[in-house]
Amino acid sequence: MTTWLNRVFCEDALQGFARIPDGSIDLLIADPPYGLGKDYGNDSDKLDAEAYLRWTEQWVDAALPKLKPNGSLYIFLTWRYSPEIFVMLKKRMTMVNEIIWDRRVPSMGGSTRKFSSVHDTIGFFVKAKDYHFDLDAVRIPYDAETKKARSRSIFVGAKWLEIGYNPKDVWSVSRLHREHRERADHPTQKPLEIVERMLKASCPPGGVVLDPFMGSGTTAVAAKRCGRNFVGFELNPDYCALIENRLAELDKPEPEAA
Ligand SMILES: C[S@@+](CC[C@H](N)C(=O)[O-])C[C@H]1O[C@@H](n2cnc3c(N)ncnc32)[C@H](O)[C@@H]1O
Repeated sequence: MTTWLNRVFCEDALQGFARIPDGSIDLLIADPPYGLGKDYGNDSDKLDAEAYLRWTEQWVDAALPKLKPNGSLYIFLTWRYSPEIFVMLKKRMTMVNEIIWDRRVPSMGGSTRKFSSVHDTIGFFVKAKDYHFDLDAVRIPYDAETKKARSRSIFVGAKWLEIGYNPKDVWSVSRLHREHRERADHPTQKPLEIVERMLKASCPPGGVVLDPFMGSGTTAVAAKRCGRNFVGFELNPDYCALIENRLAELDKPEPEAA
């Protein structure tokens, strides 16, 4: 019997990985502390650079055996550590993309001795050439303007115009500011739009996604919304409760329009 599927384990991922059989996970979405000293109600983001990189290597080596042979990894990082971590991962997997998440931060004062940093770096890695990837599930429809500009007879009914375009490797999606309707009580909650794109492209329907650092539970919520299974870990008990609440909300019927 599978006792670990669709469960949130409130524990250290490094211990939790032992619950999951090797080769059982389609997709690993990892959004670890960035090594920048954020307060997650624990000391998990208080490591110095050397200890942070050592810890990253440790959890990566515990997590990767859980992936199926055609499985994939997306890892959220900051540019400050992505160079070292990408080199480490490239010794273990094949790198497919570096995705830039443009957080659409509005113009503001900020840095005066460098350019203001407004992106997160996401690494997309796979274990083998036959990795699962469903581009059609994540194509972006062309807008009316583009379609109008391509209205000459040679374009009418053209397949590429109808099925939409590849989302490319720069994802411009607004961060979840305080007033955002999706926002929960977690300092680094990721938008569903980003995580759902990863799931639809890289996890087959009915497949399993593993999130070692669940935070507010975005991966679990996205998995449930997209017909995938999840499993994951979170150290902070308050965040574990938040995840269960977000999941329970999905079972409630939509309020009727007035
Ligand atoms: C960047 S946040 C994840 C945010 C999440 N993706 C979301 O959308 O809400 C990282 C989370 O990992 C948790 N964490 C840190 N170290 C951990 C560990 N060893 N095992 C499990 N969770 C951990 C932190 O408490 C924090 O909530």
